[in-house]
Amino acid sequence: APIPQPELNTCRTATNINNGQPVPYSCCPPINNTIVDFRLPARPVVYERPAAHLVNAQYISRFNLALQRMRALPDSDPRSFTQQANVHCAYCNGAYTYPSGTGTQRLEIQVHNCWLFFPFHRWYLYFFERILGSLINDPTFRMPYWNWDSPDGMYTPSMYLNQRQYPALFNERRNQRNMTRPADLGYFGTDNNLTPSQTADNNCVIMYNEMIRNANLLEHFMGEPLRRGDPINPGAGTHEAGSHTAIHIWGGDPRQPSGEDLGNFYSAGRDPLFYAHHANVDRMWTIWRDRRGNLPRDFSDPDYLNTQFLFYNENRQLVRVRVGDCVDNLRLEYANQTRGVNIPWTSCRP
Ligand code: C2O
Repeated sequence: APIPQPELNTCRTATNINNGQPVPYSCCPPINNTIVDFRLPARPVVYERPAAHLVNAQYISRFNLALQRMRALPDSDPRSFTQQANVHCAYCNGAYTYPSGTGTQRLEIQVHNCWLFFPFHRWYLYFFERILGSLINDPTFRMPYWNWDSPDGMYTPSMYLNQRQYPALFNERRNQRNMTRPADLGYFGTDNNLTPSQTADNNCVIMYNEMIRNANLLEHFMGEPLRRGDPINPGAGTHEAGSHTAIHIWGGDPRQPSGEDLGNFYSAGRDPLFYAHHANVDRMWTIWRDRRGNLPRDFSDPDYLNTQFLFYNENRQLVRVRVGDCVDNLRLEYANQTRGVNIPWTSCRP
């Protein structure tokens, strides 16, 4: 059977997985007993998520305004930036559980290190983006992706670093040294001391390996199955375990006790850069799927397709979604900018 939807009324204190300590605040969303089922649009109209390094000043101002309004909402509002950041914490740090079916034991929900990684984060970003759009009265607004898989986009997009002009996109808790260097997709805690062009070459091979060479079977790329009753963390896919995680560690602030913000599940969503990072992770899922040809693109297992999550939408409604409804991003009315964006790594066979 699939993992059931989380129960909001049994949501508990989250755990900082990096140090085993309780998270010092609640990551649980407001309780709401009315749940609406998500319906895919009958005639989807697709808008593009732009590459962050290619947007103009007008786009950045609107994005900053949307985030500023989201930050200004009271913490009790499920659309607020605080609550949105806590969505990640609730699903990833042991706050949500479900009844095991035997006795009073409850089992933890964990969306990483398994086949739920890509679908969960897609839905999470989908609602985050819709909330931003509604706060600037523009349902066509689409968030930017950080194009770190190409030399053109491998530096942290400058809009996230300009505290004076775009304060809502800024976050102090980052690795400040790395903010002036290209993203190192092989970073697991030690500086590579390479030139930017050497880092770009390394990144290219890393991408080739995790997107092509080692990602032939569905479970290699997507992660291992996780069903109701299974022990969590059955195994991450190549991209989740690879450059996705590397960027989290690379961006986390070494001055903080536990890698906050990007370098820790409970705090990652507090950095606006997280959403641009994950928009590119989401783009990798689409690119990988589009390259499959006659090979299977999606698990056909109903335990995968019928896994459910709950999110608050832009109207503060609690919405129940299915994994099966998110596998095609076009049906969710967004695509990723391709014009002017290179995908260098398809030819970086080591
Ligand atoms: Cu839910 Cu990039 O982690």
